[in-house]
Amino acid sequence: MADMTTHRDTRADAADNTLSFQETVRARRSYRGFLSQPLPDALIAEVLQDAQLAPSNCNTQPWNVHIVSGAKRDELSRILMAKSEAGQTSPDFSFDMSEFYGCYGERKDAHSKAYYEIENVMRDDAEGRRRVASRNYTFFNAPHVALLFMPSFGDNVRTAGDIGMYGQTFLLSLAARGVGGIPLTSLGQFAETIREVLGISAKFKMLFGIAFGYPDEAAPSYRRPRARADIGESVTFHT
Ligand SMILES: Cc1cc2nc3c(=O)[nH]c(=O)nc-3n(C[C@H](O)[C@H](O)[C@H](O)COP(=O)(O)O)c2cc1C
Repeated sequence: MADMTTHRDTRADAADNTLSFQETVRARRSYRGFLSQPLPDALIAEVLQDAQLAPSNCNTQPWNVHIVSGAKRDELSRILMAKSEAGQTSPDFSFDMSEFYGCYGERKDAHSKAYYEIENVMRDDAEGRRRVASRNYTFFNAPHVALLFMPSFGDNVRTAGDIGMYGQTFLLSLAARGVGGIPLTSLGQFAETIREVLGISAKFKMLFGIAFGYPDEAAPSYRRPRARADIGESVTFHT
């Protein structure tokens, strides 16, 4: 694909039915509840076209994306639930939340507290927490899940950055079209299992997935407030 769209063309095309940039960024959130109704194939194709325009180091475009829907989605969900219940993880990359120190740990704790409060699960309710966490493996009822794999180069950090660019472009494209998704590192905990179920080569490593579809407006998490640090905590100006 050689996309020749310029800034000027994009403005001229604004008559399509997507949200403006600012509306899109403000509308995007991680949904934890979806309707089971599948998205139209044409909408998914547009999102994939948009995501393909994500920037990457040396234009290597290292994303290797698997979209899973229908019967295969149900099969994958069943297998992931079983593996999760058995504690049989097989990640390509580590993810240890106890490593979040200082303000990062505080933000993680605030996020968990808000998450379980919205789901009405008490702090000491281990079974309730397990039940809520297991919803990662039903993809929060989403009819589709995109699994983001990448080739392995060196320490993988630059490539992982490229996959992040792709993921955010994918999520914003969904939001611009009035639908939504949620990135899921939890799925990366079962990288080997997912490779086996989908017949993916071991040379591709899995970073995270994105469950997506029509957000369920009746889900308790639908209207939760967004928590962000002040810009001054993240940005330093130098002149
Ligand atoms: C790479 C990545 C992986 C994530 N993995 C999970 C996950 O496994 N489970 C989950 O419930 N949320 C996951 N999230 C969602 C975050 O919790 C969410 O982005 C954050 O709380 C900010 O909320 P917002 O996306 O609604 O603005 C992930 C987000 C990112 C960017």
